[in-house]
Amino acid sequence: MKLTEFSAVDFRNLRRLRLAPNPQFNIIEGRNGAGKTNVLEGIFLLSSLKTFRPGKNKDLVRFGTQSGEVRAVVEHQDTTRTIRISISPKGRRVWIDGKLVRSAASALGQLTAVLFAPEDLSLTKGSPSGRRRFLDRAIFNRWPGSLDAVKRYESALKQRNALLRTDGSDALLEVFDEQLARAALRLSQWRQKYIGIFHPILEETMQLITGGDLRTTVMYEPSRLADTHDQWVDIYRKNRRQDRARKSTTAGPHIDDICLLLNDRSAKLYASQGQHRALVLALKIAEIRLLKQELGYAPVLLLDDVSSELDARRNAQLTTFLNSEAFGGQVFITTTDRSWLDFDSKSTCFRIRDGDTSEH
Ligand SMILES: Nc1ncnc2c1ncn2[C@@H]1O[C@H](COP(=O)(O)OP(=O)(O)OP(=O)(O)O)[C@@H](O)[C@H]1O
Ligand SMILES: [Mg+2]
Repeated sequence: MKLTEFSAVDFRNLRRLRLAPNPQFNIIEGRNGAGKTNVLEGIFLLSSLKTFRPGKNKDLVRFGTQSGEVRAVVEHQDTTRTIRISISPKGRRVWIDGKLVRSAASALGQLTAVLFAPEDLSLTKGSPSGRRRFLDRAIFNRWPGSLDAVKRYESALKQRNALLRTDGSDALLEVFDEQLARAALRLSQWRQKYIGIFHPILEETMQLITGGDLRTTVMYEPSRLADTHDQWVDIYRKNRRQDRARKSTTAGPHIDDICLLLNDRSAKLYASQGQHRALVLALKIAEIRLLKQELGYAPVLLLDDVSSELDARRNAQLTTFLNSEAFGGQVFITTTDRSWLDFDSKSTCFRIRDGDTSEH
């Protein structure tokens, strides 16, 4: 899967930008604030219809303008598709090959992109919400249809919490518990299924990265164990009194975590600084390897300035992986200084200045 063209008009600080990407490595170089991350954000938006930074539609269009757009031409297994997203304060609209797409779901899966950003470096140390986001995003890339389960759960949870806040009736809560239970079962099944495939790949990746001196385990750590709809209904029903007191739903997939162990000890509690970095790198590389194994092709990889956060050894390992046959995908890397990057002739460098670009 490759982007052969990317353009942005009045998207963030990109006034009118157009790139003809290299099929392999694309280095996006420029000073702080030049617009490098904005380019990645535009590509990410085309893949998931969402941005990875907080931003309403009015924040996404260039200051002082009313509308903007991002567009990409994607080549994948002998087909070429053009995806365009137009943004205005009223909403986002998706066009595929010039046709307006009615349901967003059918636009998903046209472009698979994995993002690795500096925030990811706190994945193993930080709060469970970061790990849930990582997991749900990884599941979405593997099975775009899973997004529906996430959305349904989020909306059922919101409704139930609103009812708890307003002391709604038991009869209504009963209806919402049913809805939530249905969504909880589906979401936790996606998560379980993903971790089952992910675990051996992560273990192997970590061995490659650390030279095999650490045994890595990843486990799904659900807030409650339940395998059937009725069990979920039961959990929500039993928690009702407590949930009413706290005015929010205290158990369910929104409190799940993934547990990472190094030599059987919690990485979160015991891993060293260097082990954390190795593990984060392994999580990302394993996510990509899983997609390649399961889908048969590598996703487009977006690397946002990670070189400055990883140490020299991890940078070298990342570069080796990216150059290897095992990956073979297209990469977009932002950096303020490309001297550390070693991709020889397979790369194109785009210099970004004030949202504008020159190729060299
Ligand atoms: N809607 C918008 N309109 C115009 N400019 C915007 C908008 N949203 C953000 N910007 C500006 O875009 C600029 C570039 O942002 P970006 O995050 O892409 O920079 P960067 O090149 O990645 O910098 P760094 O190296 O510091 O990460 C910022 O100065 C920001 O203020
Ligand atoms: Mg940036």
